[in-house]
Amino acid sequence: MRTRMVAGNWKMNKTFEEADDLLFGIVDGLQSLKLEGMEVILCPPFPYMEMATDVAAEHPVRIGAQNVSQFSTGAYTGEISAEMLRSMDVDFVIIGHSERRKYFGETDEVLSAKVNQALLQDLSPIFCCGEQLEEREAGRHREVVQAQLEKGLFHLSDEDMKEVVIAYEPVWAIGTGVNASAAQAQEMHAMIRELVQERYGQALAQDMTILYGGSCNPANAAELFAQPDVDGGLIGGASLKADDFISIVRSL
Ligand code: 13P
Repeated sequence: MRTRMVAGNWKMNKTFEEADDLLFGIVDGLQSLKLEGMEVILCPPFPYMEMATDVAAEHPVRIGAQNVSQFSTGAYTGEISAEMLRSMDVDFVIIGHSERRKYFGETDEVLSAKVNQALLQDLSPIFCCGEQLEEREAGRHREVVQAQLEKGLFHLSDEDMKEVVIAYEPVWAIGTGVNASAAQAQEMHAMIRELVQERYGQALAQDMTILYGGSCNPANAAELFAQPDVDGGLIGGASLKADDFISIVRSL
């Protein structure tokens, strides 16, 4: 069974008090919703993890990290290991976000090591892929995404791949207010599912959750989520306001 999901990536936003307000605003808003067959995931900044996992213990949300080290433990100043996240009841981790690729120089090799670390600790990677504007304009979007998946994920065993969530996030749609159209999203999600099927077989591909991310908001979420291969969203800006985020969850 494919699980439908909405995940909020808070990125580097909110003070402690603001994060507390947002967290409780979201779980209050979720109370009136039926969440059968779906997961709501919140990915706050690291300092707010404990607050978030405490709330998640009492409410129907699960917690994801926005990053994880490619190393397991030891002298890596400033890094956070998968083992630390697991020990705090974090269940997911975003890996391969375009902002990490762009600003922190994360290469496909680093990302594949991060995926391995996450899986060793039973964290589900939310693996992001997506092309830049120039790549789409040059008609290269399919091959770019294919290469990202092959280098970051397709070394995994079937057993590990079952734990992975893929997020298609075209870079030109992130934070721009210009979302991929429902047809563009569907085309890329279907392609991603096809690639997973070629490598891992039909059953695994059909069960795989593939999220769309990039200027997803309360006004466009329902149309995007109605596409047969779009199983939910990875939400940035609109996850920072409880009402907007709840409205997106309601669209699923
Ligand atoms: P926006 O929803 O702000 O475009 O960000 C999407 C994103 O990057 C989620 O990871």
